[in-house]
Amino acid sequence: MAPASKPRIVQIGPLSGSPVAQPLIDAHFEPFRLWEEADPIAALRREAGSITAIVTTANYGCTRQIIEAMPALKAICSWGVGYDSIDIAAAREHGVLVSNTPDVLTDCVADTAWGLMIAASRRIAQGDRFVREGHWGQVHGSFPLGNRVSGKKLGILGLGRIGEAIARRGQGFDMEIRYHNRHARNDVPWAYADSLTALAAWADFLVIATVGGAGTHHLVNASVLEALGPDGILVNISRGSVIDETALIQALQQGKLRSAGLDVFEHEPQVPAALRSLDNVVLLPHIASATHETRAAMAELVLHNLQAFFETGKVLTPV
Ligand code: DGY
Repeated sequence: MAPASKPRIVQIGPLSGSPVAQPLIDAHFEPFRLWEEADPIAALRREAGSITAIVTTANYGCTRQIIEAMPALKAICSWGVGYDSIDIAAAREHGVLVSNTPDVLTDCVADTAWGLMIAASRRIAQGDRFVREGHWGQVHGSFPLGNRVSGKKLGILGLGRIGEAIARRGQGFDMEIRYHNRHARNDVPWAYADSLTALAAWADFLVIATVGGAGTHHLVNASVLEALGPDGILVNISRGSVIDETALIQALQQGKLRSAGLDVFEHEPQVPAALRSLDNVVLLPHIASATHETRAAMAELVLHNLQAFFETGKVLTPV
């Protein structure tokens, strides 16, 4: 008997951040590799008339133009938790389901936030450079002091799954914890701050764990940074667009903020030269979920969402 052919799907970008993710999708589906096309929209019109599902990533997203070039489209399954890069309004208008990969990456993203908090306050990356550059034991031999983490005040913007996991880790560090959200929650032990500015004025560490998109654009602006103050430490593991990067650079340059730890940037992968030249900032290339275990679990969830869609017309983790 001839083997059953694999369902065709459209894939917008490669699942390149894991050795197992793309092979897993390829084992079950036949992706039309849109990123290899010189004119993707023309290619979709030509090739994707009857294809019903898209695989994308939080990075590549999915535009209205793509959705509207696929008349049979019914589901978009994304590899990642953030969906600000997917045109959700266009998907809803056209009755297209969207799924993401929540939960499986929560712990790794929270761990990365903590890595950045400790690195930014205890000057870990700077200390590493100091040793590699041969300064230890040389003329300016004593390394500058950092700031204590344990027992400090932790403010979290966005108390969703990831914000909550960051807060739980903070309890292990005997920190006092407060948060700001659109709404106060009555199922957590931490105090609610009425405004982001009030949270920043209170906190030693302000960690950004809110969603990206138009609703949170530049929420962390010059006045929030001023409220956080010259001893404050800012960490961002959500989206670069939440912070006014120009205001952040000025605050770091002028000593109006102690330091920052950033996994995400406004125009990534471009990182402003001014930011790269500063010693009081720790920079990561958007790797909060990048562990073997988590990326594999994310790929499995994409696969299960696709399989559920092809078998039942529904996805397991809808947005
Ligand atoms: C996510 O899953 O949203 C991560 O930020 C990767 O883009």
